[in-house]
Amino acid sequence: MARIVGAVATSHIPLIGKAIAMGWQNEPQWKSFFDSYAPVHEWLRSVRPDVAIVVYNDHGLNFFLDKMPTFAVGAAPEYVNDDEGWGLPVVRPFPGHQELSWHLIESLVADEFDITTCQEMQVDHGFAVPMALLWGTDARAVKTVPIVLNTVQFPLPSPARCHKLGEAIGRAVASFPDDLRVVVLGTGGLSHQLEGERAGFINKPFDLMCCDAIAHDVQPLLKYSSRDLVREAGSQGVELLAWLVMHGAMSRSMKQKHFAYHGAVSNTAAAVMLLAP
Ligand code: DHB
Ligand code: FE
Repeated sequence: MARIVGAVATSHIPLIGKAIAMGWQNEPQWKSFFDSYAPVHEWLRSVRPDVAIVVYNDHGLNFFLDKMPTFAVGAAPEYVNDDEGWGLPVVRPFPGHQELSWHLIESLVADEFDITTCQEMQVDHGFAVPMALLWGTDARAVKTVPIVLNTVQFPLPSPARCHKLGEAIGRAVASFPDDLRVVVLGTGGLSHQLEGERAGFINKPFDLMCCDAIAHDVQPLLKYSSRDLVREAGSQGVELLAWLVMHGAMSRSMKQKHFAYHGAVSNTAAAVMLLAP
């Protein structure tokens, strides 16, 4: 039986990818940020997940405004990265776990989630930066299933709906017959707005309230609408929805094992959280 061994939420800011590509991990302005991932690396070394289900939002590399699925699940043998215009080097494809993908797709549709199935899917920084942050050059040893949310074009899914999607993912993994250790990643956020009059907006009290809710009692957060999240966290801060999917997927007995919040990296409040039994 497959088992979710833990969950990791992390920001996916492109500049982090640039810092990794440039080898800036020990530069004074980056060291404390990268050091804050050490407990996650230690945990990954101890549990050795076989598969990462990566929940994130596509930023226009794979889906554009003309066709925008609310929820999409990858079912490809591999996931190709491409140039998105952020100045990041294109990285090698990531291997998929097609059997788990199809099982998730069957199970989610049976569970009344009318997801889009993607037998080809390009992955952007929302996927590639967290994979590099967590596994570095070893990232290709872990198989992946990307799950993409629309956080870009209204109407957006609600926090409660995203959490229910996560619960359905949790049920799907638990019914997969093969022995697999699965880690669920939720990537994006925290508060940020990259455009318009509020460009540069960061709301630290709201970020910390959300992180506390995800660690201890998510229910109050599920009463918010997506528009509430945009108002409180910024138009891209709504990427927090991926953290709610992640939370829905993990077992209620998991506890916060590590948390770090960084005021801002680039235009965005960055954070990392590990939840495990
Ligand atoms: C930034 C953050 C993001 O989440 C993103 O997708 C793109 C850019 C930033 O802070 O620069
Ligand atoms: Fe983003």
